[in-house]
Amino acid sequence: MPGLLLGDAFPNFEAETTVGHIKFHDFLGDAWGILFSHPRDYTPVCTTELGRAARLCSEFTKRGVKMIALSIDSLESHHGWSKDILAYNSVESGSCSLPFPIIADSKRELAVSLGMLDPDERDKDGMPLTARCVFVIGPDKRLKLSLLYPATTGRNFDEILRVVESLQLTAGRRVATPVDWQPGDNVMVPPSMSEEEAASLFPSGVFTKDLPSGKKYLRYTPQP
Ligand code: BEZ
Repeated sequence: MPGLLLGDAFPNFEAETTVGHIKFHDFLGDAWGILFSHPRDYTPVCTTELGRAARLCSEFTKRGVKMIALSIDSLESHHGWSKDILAYNSVESGSCSLPFPIIADSKRELAVSLGMLDPDERDKDGMPLTARCVFVIGPDKRLKLSLLYPATTGRNFDEILRVVESLQLTAGRRVATPVDWQPGDNVMVPPSMSEEEAASLFPSGVFTKDLPSGKKYLRYTPQP
């Protein structure tokens, strides 16, 4: 059975989190959202990932993106683990909390319903752990991007921030972002757009790269 596909309405699940009970769509409000899952509390790769996510949270907030994590342990465990994550980030005060909630999914119900389990990684009782899933949800509550990493491979949160910038740009403008694009770099004109339309939509100019085939499909324009 396929999991969530791009463009699908994201489920309006209810969950217990480190900031209380939420209904997902209410939690998001009009914002973009990132839901990212973790195999288990107090595991080393997850601790480094959540530390990095916490350090980058203000960058996501600036871009109107709300973050929320999920791990298959209890709220009590999440609260204790959060202190370790803050210490990993060298945050001194014991009273500080992470800048985003963590969902407690002890029964793995949400992880199963969202297709987040990693069949190759199991706990001591033989139960599968959660993979490293990233879902980016648009303000229309539809799935805009999904990434699925196995438990043994940590994610790159700078890349997740980069793709959010591309998703937000391309949601509002008829452009595409090329390989390794960074905000401010030139963007590409989509193949379906005629030369005439491109010329009128992009007054700062469209330029093409010469290719041996002579075809002019690599069309760039400054980021609008
Ligand atoms: C970790 O977060 O370190 C981890 C979790 C499950 C499997 C492997 C690594």
